[in-house]
Amino acid sequence: MPTIIEALQYRYATKKFDANRAATDAQISELKQAVQLSASSFGLQPYRILVVSNPAIKKDLRAAAYDQSQVSDAGHIFIFAAKTSMSAEYIDDFIKMTATQRDIPVDVIEGYGEYIKGSVLSKDEEFIVAWNKRQAYIALGTLLAAAGELKIDTCPMEGFEPAKFDEILGLKEKGLTACVIAPVGFRSEEDNSQHYAKVRYPLGELFL
Ligand SMILES: Cc1cc2nc3c(=O)[nH]c(=O)nc-3n(C[C@H](O)[C@H](O)[C@H](O)COP(=O)(O)O)c2cc1C
Repeated sequence: MPTIIEALQYRYATKKFDANRAATDAQISELKQAVQLSASSFGLQPYRILVVSNPAIKKDLRAAAYDQSQVSDAGHIFIFAAKTSMSAEYIDDFIKMTATQRDIPVDVIEGYGEYIKGSVLSKDEEFIVAWNKRQAYIALGTLLAAAGELKIDTCPMEGFEPAKFDEILGLKEKGLTACVIAPVGFRSEEDNSQHYAKVRYPLGELFL
C-alpha cells in the first residue's frame, strides 16, 4: 500500500481518461464507503451523491460541462449535490438515526438536536446552501484522497452548468443542487498532464 504522500503524488486532475477501462463494482463500492466516512459539520451530511455510469446520461452531462471529455470517457461520474435547505425534520431524523446507530435512547441526545437547530435554522437560505456545499467539498476531498490510495484516477470539476445538471438528473425536485463533480476511472496513456510536476507553494510559504 502506498504511503499517503505517495498516493497524493500519484493523484492528479486527470484530463484524459481511458474510455475503455472503468473502475470495478468493488472499487466503486470502496470509494462510496470512503465518501460515507467523510467529516461534516455536526455530522449532518447535508448532501447526496449520484454515481452516473449510463453512457447516454454522461453524454448529456458532458454537453453541460463545456464539452470536457472526462465527463463521458470516465466510467463513473460522482456528482456531489448539496441540499438546498435545512429543516427541523431533517435534524430530527438525523438525531433518530444517531440514536439507532449508537443504540441509545433518543431522549439522551434530543438536547443535541435542539442545539443544532438553534445554531442552524436561524440562518437564511443563501447561507444554508453555501454551508451545505462546503460540506460536500469535504466529501469530494475524501474521494480524491481515497481514490489516489487505490490508484484510481479522478478529476475534481467545477466547470459545468449546475442548473443543467440539476435538470438532467432531476435534482431540484429532490431538494438538491449539483455543486462539484468527479469523473472516476483510469488515466489514458496519452494524457500528458500525468507527467507534469506538481505546482505547489513551498511549505514555508503555505504554512505561516
Ligand atoms: C473545485 C475544483 C474544481 C476544478 N475544476 C476543474 C475543471 O472543471 N476541469 C478540469 O480539468 N480541472 C478542474 N480542476 C482541477 C485543478 O485544475 C487541479 O486540481 C489543480 O490544477 C492542481 O493540479 P492537480 O490536482 O493535478 O495536482 C478543479 C479542481 C478543483 C479542486
